[in-house]
Formats: sequence, C-alpha cells, structure tokens
Amino acid sequence: MQFEVLATCHTTRARVSRMKLAHGVTLLPTFMPVATQAAIKGLTAQQMESLGVTLILNNTYHLNLRPGIKILDEAGGAHKFQGWNRNLLTDSGGFQLVSLNKFTTITEEGALFQDPFTGEPTMLTPEESMSIQHSIGGDIMMQLDDVVASLTTGPRVGEAMQRSVRWLDRCIEFHQKSGRDKFQNLFAIVQGGLDPELRNQCLEQMIRRKDKVAGFAIGGLSGGEAKDTFWRIIKQCAEGLPTDRPRYAMGIGFAEDLLICVALGIDMADCVFPTRTARFGVALTFAGPLNLKLRKHSHDLKPIEEGCPCPTCSSGTSRALLHHTVTIETAAAHAVSMHNLVFQARLMGGARDAILAGTFPGYLKNFFADYYGGTG
Ligand code: GUN
Ligand code: ZN
Repeated sequence: MQFEVLATCHTTRARVSRMKLAHGVTLLPTFMPVATQAAIKGLTAQQMESLGVTLILNNTYHLNLRPGIKILDEAGGAHKFQGWNRNLLTDSGGFQLVSLNKFTTITEEGALFQDPFTGEPTMLTPEESMSIQHSIGGDIMMQLDDVVASLTTGPRVGEAMQRSVRWLDRCIEFHQKSGRDKFQNLFAIVQGGLDPELRNQCLEQMIRRKDKVAGFAIGGLSGGEAKDTFWRIIKQCAEGLPTDRPRYAMGIGFAEDLLICVALGIDMADCVFPTRTARFGVALTFAGPLNLKLRKHSHDLKPIEEGCPCPTCSSGTSRALLHHTVTIETAAAHAVSMHNLVFQARLMGGARDAILAGTFPGYLKNFFADYYGGTG
C-alpha cells in the first residue's frame, strides 16, 4: 500500500490522503458501502463503480458460510466473483460472530460458533480468518479481534483487548508467512471498550507493531454508547495513532458522526446504514433524513434533493412516486439506495474538497446548520 497525506486542516485534525492499493487509488476520507454477501443490497458492482465508489467492504463471516472458500477459490477471489474491479476491504468475522450468533464462545484459540446452516460447531481462529481473507483476496484485511458489546463493563473488556493484541500477533505471523503481504494489507483493530486507560494500553501495544501493519482501525464502538463517550474515544485513539497510517472507524455511518470523525482525524468508515435505511424508505439529504413514507410526500413532485447528481434525482424521479413504491417495489428501494450512497460520497467528497481548500471549519458549520435547520 502507498499512503500519502496530501493536506491537513489547520484548526481540526481532518486530513486528505491518497491510498494506493492493488485495485487503484482511493482518496480519503471516504465512506465504504457494505456488501456483506458480495453484493451491495440493491446495487450491482457496475452501478457502484459508475457512482464513483472506489472501496467497498465484504464480510469474511458471511462469505465463508456462503458461497464458501472453495467457490471463491474457483472464481479467483471475491473481486472476480462479484465483478468488482476496485478496492475491497474484508472484515475478519469477529464482530459478526458476536453480533449475529448468540452461541459463540470465545477461547484463546479462537471463536467457537454454530454454523447457522448446518448447526455444526465451527472454530474461527485468527489464522483461519487470515486464510479465508487470503482466498477472498481483499486489498485490506482486518485482524480477527475479540469484540465485546460497547456497553460491557468489568474485567471482560480488558481481557478482550489483551486477547485482540495476542490475536493480532497471530494474524501478523500467518500473513507474513503467506507471502501475500505484498498485495494484501493487514489492519490492526484498537479495542478497550469505553475505558480510556484500556484504550491507551491497546494503542501502546498495537503501535509497537506499526511496522507490521498497514493501518489501524478503531473498533468496539457504535453499540448504543452516549455520543459524548463515543467522540472522546475516537478523539483519543485518532490522536494516539501514527500520522503515516490510515485510521478507520468501524461501523460508523450517520452523516453527523462521519463529519465529527473526520474532524478528529479519521480517514475511513463503513456502515450498512445508508442502504438499510433506504429499504425502510428513508432518503438522506443535506437538509436531514427524509422519511418518504410520510403522507406529506404523496403529492411532492420534487426529486429527493435538488441538484443531486445521482441517477434517481437527475432522472427526475419524484418523492411522490417513491412515497408510493419505496417499501413495496425493489426498483424504488434500489433508487433510494443509489441516492443514499451518492449522498455519503458527496458528504465525504465535500469534506475532502474543503480540507484541500482550507475551508473545512466552514464546511462543518454549513453542514450542521442545514442538516438540523433543514426544511426537507
Ligand atoms: N465492525 C464494527 N465494529 C467492529 C469491531 O469492533 N471489530 C470488527 N472486526 N468489526 C467491527
Ligand atoms: Zn439523489
């Protein structure tokens, strides 16, 4: 990976950087749409590319269950399998195991879970996660981490953090021996819950491995903690992490959170929110989210957002049409999903332009005035 910081804001820690991976250049800060099952819900890979998206996320946990490694190997990796030619990041499976599977047991060896399709007990170790991510062939791979729900307190939080450091070492070792570290880049994940002292310990230990990882993520957040606590942990971690590595906030997708994270020095974020909320009939706009299901939109012939370059708005699709179809017609959910991903891309593209132009504080101010004072 080549990573170069192009500009830094003078009053916040926001920065623009250029990340070059095996499947092209991605400018940061960026939002990564989530294609859990090797498909963005409602969009083809070609549509994603035509919207200007250059980096998406797949989940190791899901792809390992279906289609499975054999088919991915036969296809020549997940890029070919899903017809995606740009950059791909894979999450390691740890988070999904815990959030989706209530029978998961964590041991030092790995995460023991029940295969939801066969019922078979299955072990996901750090080495296994790396091996699966090698078959997937993503440009960025995440370490297997021991994730606890963000509101967890007590000794389990420290234990999970320490185990995440030990699992990082096993991921590094497996990855280095594979010889694939020339094309695929491993990221560490900082854990430690909502405890600043544990976060510091994790930062210190992971930064010692800096030469063996391409980037750092901040995990274990966005699980119902208070906003103030969330921001403090992001601030602490972003400040502590080295400036010459990308910083990735995992599972963050609300516009207001994205911009605060960018101001605190975050370069990458991902979330299912924009596509999931689209399927529930909510369009994202610079005047705040728009619930298309509300009756007030039934006669509204305006597009979701004036001036939006997305295929939905620029073709003149009205709020009225979407109001009538969004939760019952797949084509309408698809139209709103496209708009929402273009919204996320414009939000982050606007932030990059403002940082480069030296006007990022004004960009923030205008965004928050419109987003919370909007008339949408
Ligand atoms: N996605 C959201 N949060 C996390 C996390 O803490 N770890 C992993 N692996 N994925 C995540
Ligand atoms: Zn639009």
